[in-house]
Amino acid sequence: MTASVGAARASVRRRRRSSAVVLLVALAATGVLWAAFAPRGTAQDTADANEAVRAGRALYLQGCSSCHGVNAQGGNQAPSLVGVGSAAVDFQVGTGRMPLAAPGAQAKRKDPIYDQTQIDQLAAYVGSLGGGPKKPVITSAALDDADLAHGGELYRANCAQCHQATGAGAPLTYGKYAPDLGKATPTQIVEAMRTGPESMPVFGPGQIDNADATAIAKYVRHLSEAPSAGGDALGKYGPVPEGLLAWLVGIGGLLAVCLWIGARQKV
Ligand code: HEC
Ligand code: HEC
Repeated sequence: MTASVGAARASVRRRRRSSAVVLLVALAATGVLWAAFAPRGTAQDTADANEAVRAGRALYLQGCSSCHGVNAQGGNQAPSLVGVGSAAVDFQVGTGRMPLAAPGAQAKRKDPIYDQTQIDQLAAYVGSLGGGPKKPVITSAALDDADLAHGGELYRANCAQCHQATGAGAPLTYGKYAPDLGKATPTQIVEAMRTGPESMPVFGPGQIDNADATAIAKYVRHLSEAPSAGGDALGKYGPVPEGLLAWLVGIGGLLAVCLWIGARQKV
């Protein structure tokens, strides 16, 4: 009798203990699942992004709205910025082209008047208006991995007709010019391709994918950083100044020697 009561109590205890184990396992599983699938940090990220857009709009109203319109809709002074994307803003403001001081034939590269945080805020505001290419992210690892020789082939096929084989730039029609590429950063080089400033054509990702664009950026940096193999590059203007130098120094020098010999013989 006592033995069977004891056995019944023991089985109740076992059952209680096993349901506690099941409960614990279930709780732990829920925790693991939650950790795996819970949306991470979204609330904070959205708040940060909203803050950047707000700060960017304030900067925009102060520095850009007089030409581009209060809502970036454009006007008779400047084009609309709706849909140009954060890449265009990062390029235009990062290269100091914007804010445009005075309307001219072409916006020039200058020292930027905004710092990178402010540029990112302006880009976030214009980006929030929708559409357009996003500011590219080019890591130094991606640059290291990029194929320099392939970048050179693509550069000669797509860019050299305007910017010259050496990247020194050249005049175009109507007072416009393709600028020297010596100061552009890899990010700015890809941004120029993606946004096509002024009379430069757009090279979209369908035409030149991100890996190829990085390779071109690597090659353009290589053009201005690599030491010149043939001594002084004479401004990299190509055969004309080199020929001129040969004429002046070479033939001029020979003439000087002839005159010197002639002068000596008379004595
Ligand atoms: C004095 C007038 C003026 C001011 C101020 C100005 N812009 Fe512009 N902006 C222009 C004109 C004109 C163009 C078109 C010509 C060009 O691209 O050089 C332009 C072009 C642009 C473009 C290129 C649009 C495209 O289609 O790719 C961007 C981006 C831009 N501006 C951003 C800004 C930002 C941001 C500011 C403020 C920091 C600013 N601009 C201030 C006149 C102005
Ligand atoms: C049809 C002529 C043309 C072609 C082709 C062209 N560009 Fe340009 N590029 C321009 C012009 C014009 C500008 C100046 C735009 C401005 O000032 O708003 C420019 C500006 C740039 C800049 C900005 C330079 C700086 O220091 O601010 C970069 C970088 C650039 N181009 C890279 C390229 C690359 C890379 C290619 C080839 C994939 C290319 N371009 C093809 C005409 C051209």
